[in-house]
Amino acid sequence: MKQNLDPAVKSQPQIAPPGAERATVKINVDLLVIHAAELLTARTPDSLPARATQLDTLELIPDGALAVVDGRIVAVGTTAELSATYTASRVEDASGRLVSPGFVDPHTHLLHGGTRHEDWEGKVLEAPSLGIGGGILSTITGTREASDGALLAGGRAVLDDLLVNGTTTVEVKSGYGLARAEEVRLVRLASELGHPVRIVSSYLGAHMVPDEFRTDRAGYVDEVIATLPEIAADVDSIDIACDPISFTASESRRIAEAARALGLALRFHADQTGDAGGTALAVEFGALSVDHLDEVSDAGLSALAASGSVGVVFPTANAHLLDMTSSLQPGGRPAKDLAAWAQRVRDSGAALALSTDYNPGTSPCSSMQIVLQLAARLYRWSYAQVWQMATINAAAALGLAAEIGSLGVGKRADFVLWDVPSHGAVVHRIGSNLVHQVYRDGELVAERGRVRTRVAAEVGAVS
Ligand code: NIG
Ligand code: FE
Repeated sequence: MKQNLDPAVKSQPQIAPPGAERATVKINVDLLVIHAAELLTARTPDSLPARATQLDTLELIPDGALAVVDGRIVAVGTTAELSATYTASRVEDASGRLVSPGFVDPHTHLLHGGTRHEDWEGKVLEAPSLGIGGGILSTITGTREASDGALLAGGRAVLDDLLVNGTTTVEVKSGYGLARAEEVRLVRLASELGHPVRIVSSYLGAHMVPDEFRTDRAGYVDEVIATLPEIAADVDSIDIACDPISFTASESRRIAEAARALGLALRFHADQTGDAGGTALAVEFGALSVDHLDEVSDAGLSALAASGSVGVVFPTANAHLLDMTSSLQPGGRPAKDLAAWAQRVRDSGAALALSTDYNPGTSPCSSMQIVLQLAARLYRWSYAQVWQMATINAAAALGLAAEIGSLGVGKRADFVLWDVPSHGAVVHRIGSNLVHQVYRDGELVAERGRVRTRVAAEVGAVS
């Protein structure tokens, strides 16, 4: 669904400037969260994504508090500071709990038919039947055969799981239709999901060349370009897969130029199975995000580091593809040193974000908690680094860092209360959902593993 975030803070109580006389009458707000054992704000200067050494500085406020009016944050500080200034009709005591921004997941293939679990066993046993490309094509068959109702039900079930695991904004791609009418259908269905998760929609007609066009690749590129005006008003961005199994740099360039002529924002799948020059091309077109980077060249990485584009990486996809253990990958490449790759990418100075890459093949994952866990374990990235990459940096990958991804004055009140007192405890734990409550725009939308459906209907109407 095309994002239409209200531009202005409707009302914002003023905090007395330092040194001013203490107000005798407190300001009433809608919601006060107090006594957070640790308030993780993920605030950065000008809401820019953290990169290089900035990733090591994560703002944590002990005994933290925040105040909310009309779904936006109006004050952030210690409980003592906010209690001196504010009262609220609703006060949430977060004693013993970490409070953090809701995770932002900037890359999912949410709408699909079928499952590929049988193929994965083949990969585990080092006898894969499908590579990534073959897997995608098999999901296209399953998706085309699925009814609208089945696709919506499947998508909503995954959104439920993302939400109860702490994610408040999710990017949703088309890309398993790969025929004009099917891709338009998937874009429409993304707008009909109606869910308390905030949805950002992308058109990925340029995911793969479908079988019907195997001998007429240019014909399929023409079809993707012809579809752009039809879906332009309904999506937030256009995604192009520039990768050896998908589109060449020159094919991708044609699509990017057509999208740019229509004023559409771009993001790329780039250089996942080999270096196709996708990263440099994405940077040249000012893409919001450049996703995967597994086989990025030094030149591509330097271009990314010097740009405002955000690189998005996927530890659960790396794990599920067995990149760290298999002697031979499905595409025929040798296992790689993931930590060395990840440190090279991070140390380049590029802005980086984390995501589930939820899809039925290479990353059937709907918990950002596991993404953070594997980013720390496989990439050897610190707790501060992975938290920033899953919040403010992930919001930047969607072009929404001024609105979401951190807990600062004027931001949307999208936040999570956790069952543990520290951000490190979330990353350390394996396989448990540690979320206590999830709030979106200041409304409680999920609690103890359950989506609050009554609130869901109300909030979904304005998402
Ligand atoms: O991980 N080029 C695409 N790679 C996809 C795979 C999706 C799938 O396996 O279905 C990705 O983003
Ligand atoms: Fe993807």
